[in-house]
Order: sequence, then C-alpha cells, then structure tokens
Amino acid sequence: MMEVRTSVEAEPVSKATAVLGEGPYWVPEDSALLWVDIPNGQLFRTEFPSGATQSMSLGAVSAAFPALGGGILTAGDNRLMLHTPPAAAGDTWVSLTIAEVPAREGIRFNDASVDPAGRIWVGSMHIAESEPLGTLYRLDPGRVLTPVLKGVTVSNGIGWSPDGSRMYYADSPLRQIDVFDYDPATGEAFQRRTFADLSRVEGIPDGLTVDLDGCIWVALWGGGALRRFTPDGEQDAVIPLPVSRPTSCAFGGPDLTDLFVTTASIDLTDDQLAAEPLAGRLLRLHPGPSGLPSTSAWASIPS
Ligand code: BGC
Ligand code: CA
Repeated sequence: MMEVRTSVEAEPVSKATAVLGEGPYWVPEDSALLWVDIPNGQLFRTEFPSGATQSMSLGAVSAAFPALGGGILTAGDNRLMLHTPPAAAGDTWVSLTIAEVPAREGIRFNDASVDPAGRIWVGSMHIAESEPLGTLYRLDPGRVLTPVLKGVTVSNGIGWSPDGSRMYYADSPLRQIDVFDYDPATGEAFQRRTFADLSRVEGIPDGLTVDLDGCIWVALWGGGALRRFTPDGEQDAVIPLPVSRPTSCAFGGPDLTDLFVTTASIDLTDDQLAAEPLAGRLLRLHPGPSGLPSTSAWASIPS
C-alpha cells in the first residue's frame, strides 16, 4: 500500500474563487477538472497544466460529469440536466432536463457520483442541515430517479471500491462513513453498516474518493483536513489543510497522483477569512498515492 506524505503543500491552481466549491471530477480525456460553486450556480472547468479556468452560469449546480455521447451532465436543485456544447461557432449551449424529483421547500440536491458502470447517483440535503428530509437516488432505466435511501439529512460523499463490490457513503451529520455491499451489474446497494466512526474527530465528513489501493479519502468540513482510511476502516493518514472547510477531493493529473481539493468560504467571519485566504479556492496536493481510473467514469444516461 502506498505510503501517504502528510505534510504536503496545498497550492491553489486556479484563480477562480468559490463560495461553496464542490464536486471535483477529473476528466482524463480533456486533462481537465470539473468543479462547481453551489450558491452561485457556477460550473468550472480547469485545464491542466495551465490552470486556465472557464466558467458557465447554470443557475443551480452541485455536481457535474462528462456524459457518454457528449455534453456535461449536472445535478442541481431537484433535477439532472444535460448541457450540450454549441455545434458551430455562434451557436449556444443547449440544456435539457434528463430527470427530476418533486421540488420541496428547504431541500436541494447535493453531492452526486458515477459508479464504475456509469450509473448516476445523487443525494439531496435539508438546507438547514437539521432534519432527515433528504434522499439518496439512483438514475434507473426510463430516466427514473429511484429513491434508494430515505431519511438522509445531508447526503454527501459517494464512492466505490476498486472492484465495485462496495459503496461508501457519508450523511454528514451522522459523523461516520457507511459502507454497502454493491452489485455494479444492477446498481443494488445492500447491507448498510458503519465503515468508519468520525464522531471523535474535528469536523464532519463531506466529499470522498477512493484511491488505487482501495483506501478512502474524506474531506472534513469544519475539520480543516483530509483523512485516509484503509479498506478495513482504519485511519492511516491525516493531511492538515490551510482551510477549515474542505468540501471534497478527487485524484487527477497525468498519472492520477495530483489530489484536488475543493473548499468553501461560506459563512466564515471576516477574521476567519483573513486567517484562511485560500478558502474557496481549488487546491492541489501531491501526497503520494494514485487515484483509481474508475472514479472518472463517464455518466451514462439511460433511455
Ligand atoms: C454541502 C453544504 C454543507 C456541507 C456540510 C456540503 O456538501 O453542500 O451545504 O454545509 O456539506 O454539511
Ligand atoms: Ca459535499
């Protein structure tokens, strides 16, 4: 198992600054990272190695993925949308709703993920973060968002083991990472149980990713760090960050050894903002381990 270097520099890689940066997703074919700013409804695409960043105003977006067949699939508000780029110069992007759930006051979509087979999962959250009114959904044939798990408060990180036989999941206020047995052929998740108890660490679990060794990396919102867990649930590394609210992480770069971390500045006081000038920026670290190619699966939109 690849050793983690825990005192590594976190360098900002794009001039873009988010209020609530989220959803880093590496697109190897484009050498680019997709990420979003939820309150501003912005989708960012940062190219590497230049760091040049394009942004697109979508109104509502909490996660974005390249779609099989072209375009970008986004989650936001209460719907999944497909945005198709202009066919010719002078044309505009075309946005189409793929699937939606009934809009509910005080609830919005949050983290989403694509399983190793290209299947889309998205969870919703109670915006006030106090009531279990959210749901974790799977996009099924017929473009139906099937509720898989109800009673979620803040649906966050979703990830899969290298062989696809496990799904990891964080409902942030529970302060734990859960694991399900998973069948990539059908998208069935069963036997939910606690994988790692985080109730005694600072912060709450937000976005997560799985590396080549099957270890789970989680961003601790309010805890100013990333933590890594081995596949048997043991914590084996803590990487302190220069921001208190990291939101999610994803491996990328030419050999999948760059670790990108999205961060937030939302609700920080002026004093806190002065103390953490990188809050809201996209950060890059080089802690050693490599990412798992299947975490960059293209989203497959069923008919
Ligand atoms: C959500 C934020 C929330 C945070 C911690 C993020 O994924 O987008 O709205 O405050 O998790 O619960
Ligand atoms: Ca999140």
